[in-house]
Amino acid sequence: MRKNIVAGNWKMNKNLQEGIALAKELNEALAADKPNCDVVICTPFIHLASVTPIVDSAVIGVGAENCADKVSGAYTGEVSAEMVASTGAQYVILGHSERRSYYGETVEILEEKVKLALANNLTPIFCIGEVLEERQAEKQNEVVAAQLASVFTLSAEDFGKIILAYEPVWAIGTGLTATPEQAQDIHAYIRSLIAEKYGNEVADNCSILYGGSCKPSNVKELFAKPDVDGGLIGGAALKVADFKGIIDAFK
Ligand code: 13P
Repeated sequence: MRKNIVAGNWKMNKNLQEGIALAKELNEALAADKPNCDVVICTPFIHLASVTPIVDSAVIGVGAENCADKVSGAYTGEVSAEMVASTGAQYVILGHSERRSYYGETVEILEEKVKLALANNLTPIFCIGEVLEERQAEKQNEVVAAQLASVFTLSAEDFGKIILAYEPVWAIGTGLTATPEQAQDIHAYIRSLIAEKYGNEVADNCSILYGGSCKPSNVKELFAKPDVDGGLIGGAALKVADFKGIIDAFK
């Protein structure tokens, strides 16, 4: 069965002490009021080893926001999937639009990252989504189909281990959210591509999250759509009240 998931992407926010405090506060809030969905927080690399022991792993999963496309060796400044896994983290965001646009991550690089994440038992949260000009030219379907090439070389078994996140770039951090209908249309299209490639069962079981200016006041309608299985949350994941408000949309 497909899971409902709310995942936070802290991006490059919070120093170590602030990150630990945020994780503790979230852990307490969710211990007092158990969520009705899977919850994941994806933090900067340096937070991982400190955050994993302080959250209840039965309630909150922890992930990185990226990992290297190489196994190990002379790649100064990079962090491997194995290193991420060694902190106790279980997830890794891959293919975020900020990585694609600012750091030149291509379909091929992302294919390597996804494979290395899976080889180290990390669950990739693989992001896809179009920029505004592509949406205006009604090319969003083509764009996401091309981005899926990074994960469509996986075996059906491996594909079944990943989470997808549709994040229209024009909705990220802009306060502009896709309408529930826009999200449903493209999520259904993404699921149809998975069904074509891997069959209906794999497609039905794949969680497809929506990301882009999610907040407590707009997620209920988004999450109510049949092909929207939760959210990938940026800004609103940095305040426990907001993040929990989003998690509570599944109650
Ligand atoms: P915002 O929720 O801040 O728009 O960010 C979305 C995002 O990029 C999550 O990965």
